[in-house]
Amino acid sequence: MILLTGATGTIGRAAMHALHTAGVPFKVAVRSGSRAAVKAETVRFDWDDLSSYQRAMEGVEHLFLLTPNSERQVGYVLQAIATAKRAGVKHIVRLSVMGADADPGIILERQHFAAEREVKASGIAWTILRPTFFMDNLINYYGVVPTRDSTVYLPNGDGKAAWADPADIGEVVAKVLTHDGYAGKVYELTGPDPLSTAEALQVMSEELGHKYTYVNVTEEAARKAQEDSGMPAWLVDALMELHSLVRLHHASTLADGVQQVLGRPPHALREWAARLRLQTAGSA
Ligand SMILES: NC(=O)c1ccc[n+]([C@@H]2O[C@H](COP(=O)([O-])OP(=O)(O)OC[C@H]3O[C@@H](n4cnc5c(N)ncnc54)[C@H](OP(=O)(O)O)[C@@H]3O)[C@@H](O)[C@H]2O)c1
Repeated sequence: MILLTGATGTIGRAAMHALHTAGVPFKVAVRSGSRAAVKAETVRFDWDDLSSYQRAMEGVEHLFLLTPNSERQVGYVLQAIATAKRAGVKHIVRLSVMGADADPGIILERQHFAAEREVKASGIAWTILRPTFFMDNLINYYGVVPTRDSTVYLPNGDGKAAWADPADIGEVVAKVLTHDGYAGKVYELTGPDPLSTAEALQVMSEELGHKYTYVNVTEEAARKAQEDSGMPAWLVDALMELHSLVRLHHASTLADGVQQVLGRPPHALREWAARLRLQTAGSA
């Protein structure tokens, strides 16, 4: 049996879709409040409730281990590994981040690298997936609204990112969970074209038919806006580091993990935006 964590999030939803398409049975570990959003067998699970871990992992052989951005991320992974060992889990697929092995790295990379080390030392077979910036960040974090004109205010300058399509990542997750030959491997996952934020918004404008505008702002202005929104201080620091990575042209490296696992090139941002247009039209 396969168990997905994070199933109601960006990558979890894409992984569920890919597993459904492949016709593979699986269950998902979700907080009680999220159960309605999922069309699969569910088991109640909360990263902050240790008593929920054991039941979630009963009978599980393949665990997709996605932890939310949290100061406790490494602790969650340690608790998951301890339970997985007791439950007899045979394979852990860990969602990490591209650049996790950078030295000295930024906050989110260091967290993920520490988690990777624990997974590798667990004695359970593992596969590590290291995606770069998700294309859905443009909506979830940058604030683009697919159905109307939007302006994005961020300190990304003209730095490019190698935007990865969550649908590709979800397919990779499903493939490595359901096929042999991926244990002990690390895959870096990106899209095919590094694009600046303004270029990404231009592609979205062309595909979705709305005006999406990028306004470069100072890091101080972006930091203040995020602090004012009530975001925890550590996360503001972590996000500011990510914007610096883009602004300083360290986020545009391409990798061939999607090609290696799926045997096809990754989707371009234009394909993602075209799919978004269809989904938006379908839900209108
Ligand atoms: N965004 C990027 O560009 C990027 C790139 C590389 C790596 N990553 C990594 O990807 C991970 C996030 O993935 P994502 O963007 O797919 O996630 P997401 O959309 O932020 O969703 C988070 C998921 O975790 C669940 N969750 C949160 N708190 C929980 C709790 N206490 N107990 C149980 N479930 C809980 C959420 O469930 P609910 O529905 O109940 O809230 C949801 O399913 C992070 O580790 C991040 O560092 C992100």
